Amino acid sequence: MIHDVIVIGGGIGGLMAAIEAKTPANRVALLTKGNLFKSNSALASGGINAVLNPYNTKDIQSHIDDTTKSAYGLGDKNNIKYMCNQAPSIIKKLTQYGVNFDKDESGNIAQRSFGGGSVRRTCFVGDTTGSQIIQTLIKKAKEVGVTFIVNNFVMNLTTYNGKISGVVALRRFDSSVVVYPAKSVVLAGGGYAGIYRGFSTNASDYTGDMLAIALRAGLRLVDMEFVQFHPTGFVATSYLVSEAARGEGGFLVNSDGDRFVNELDKRDVVARAINEQISLGKKVFIDLRHLSKELIEKKLPSLYKSAFLQAGIDLATELLPIKPVAHYTMGGIEADGVETDIKGLFVCGECASNGVHGANRLGGNSLLEGAVFGELAGKKALENSHKADFLPIDYSEVIKDIKLVDKIFDSETTKNFNAMRISLGKMMFLNVGIERNEDGLAKAFDYISYLRSEVPTLHCIHKERTNNVELISILELRNSIEISEAVILSALKRKESRGAHYRSDYNIDNQEYKKSIVIEELKRGILRAHFKENKFLYSIRKLFKQKAI
Ligand code: SIN
Repeated sequence: MIHDVIVIGGGIGGLMAAIEAKTPANRVALLTKGNLFKSNSALASGGINAVLNPYNTKDIQSHIDDTTKSAYGLGDKNNIKYMCNQAPSIIKKLTQYGVNFDKDESGNIAQRSFGGGSVRRTCFVGDTTGSQIIQTLIKKAKEVGVTFIVNNFVMNLTTYNGKISGVVALRRFDSSVVVYPAKSVVLAGGGYAGIYRGFSTNASDYTGDMLAIALRAGLRLVDMEFVQFHPTGFVATSYLVSEAARGEGGFLVNSDGDRFVNELDKRDVVARAINEQISLGKKVFIDLRHLSKELIEKKLPSLYKSAFLQAGIDLATELLPIKPVAHYTMGGIEADGVETDIKGLFVCGECASNGVHGANRLGGNSLLEGAVFGELAGKKALENSHKADFLPIDYSEVIKDIKLVDKIFDSETTKNFNAMRISLGKMMFLNVGIERNEDGLAKAFDYISYLRSEVPTLHCIHKERTNNVELISILELRNSIEISEAVILSALKRKESRGAHYRSDYNIDNQEYKKSIVIEELKRGILRAHFKENKFLYSIRKLFKQKAI
């Protein structure tokens, strides 16, 4: 069956977009590469920020102010305003769809504190907010008639005269390359924190695929150096200890038993404070022992269970060791709201960079951003598919993807791509992590150059084409390498500290750098980082096709 709109990604942004774009006459398919229930949105446990009363302009302004402050000078004023103003209606919509937010004693939606927020404005369902929202939205999407196409790994986009014409995907089931024509496409397939494999709350398949696809389609990436490290992950498994734990009154203590930071400060500040303790040779723990067991079980049931199962810790009586881990990526595909330079292609959620998070995201704003801009992307995709026609598919591009798959299968190899993925994660955490400097970044760049040279040698060891997991891993690794390079180049270019990007060799923010850095692919495999020029200069440059600055 042919679809008017293809949405890629099964997190909150993708689901909201698909629901919004679906009408009886508009055929919508949602494509995912893996398990629908395992998106990062489903893991965002602590909550979603919103002022509940749409007429409370004072509180909405305070949400705008906190978001702007957290963005360290790089927030997009209009998009932040739009998001915070839409928040009350988004919560209403989610409630109507069936999300049962926790209530306070008066029966109103309860709100908890979250890091960087000046008041309690995070709505929640215990500490399983994201998964409750995702389950509700999947149900709703099925109800309205969205088609789910799972286990499809999107390799590339197809375009015709600057307009979207479809997507090229690899079907896991038989490793065949298939084309899905569409009038509108929404990219909502998540960010790139999974590249920090072993040091990330993300599932390991968050390898920046959407961004790599966009780059190959000629779009630009923005703010790639800004990677948010969540202050609290399990030491052994990097499993997320939700900010809800601190929002409900949990303390951070070091191995001397001392508190050393305001637990509800912005995430970059708390993560750096913990990092400092660790570099002094101390351990850091989350301490919930002063809270009642009843409260922990009621408000943090998932954490309570996971601490016991994964670390053998009873949070009511014991301290849980934690460490900061890569959690969210502010960088993404350049977007004007949800629109891109390819007509009919829209982006939302973590893969997009519309400037609402700037250099550092406010905790609780990720689900909100996904929902608000997912809804908008769905509306725009619907509008576009009313006006647009199906356009021709450039099969010479599709053939390139078929040839690539054949090449990965056809040759023998002795290379261990799994070891490469793990070492890439460790290398990124050590050199492009919470704290960076010129030497570490140069080392990281060298390592990426080495990995790039190894790419042609990556082949499947097992040649069976049915459900071959190696093939997807290799394609993901290829994307990861490209996106890691984009992060490193941007981090090298930003010779200052701002938000989540902390340079130990340039530790003050510099007004000259109060602008975004963009990454462009000058020609296949050649990336260039430069400061974002204003729209006028950019359009002139595009007109003259003069790529380098
Ligand atoms: C958390 O619960 O701490 C994650 C939610 C978020 O990143 O906003």
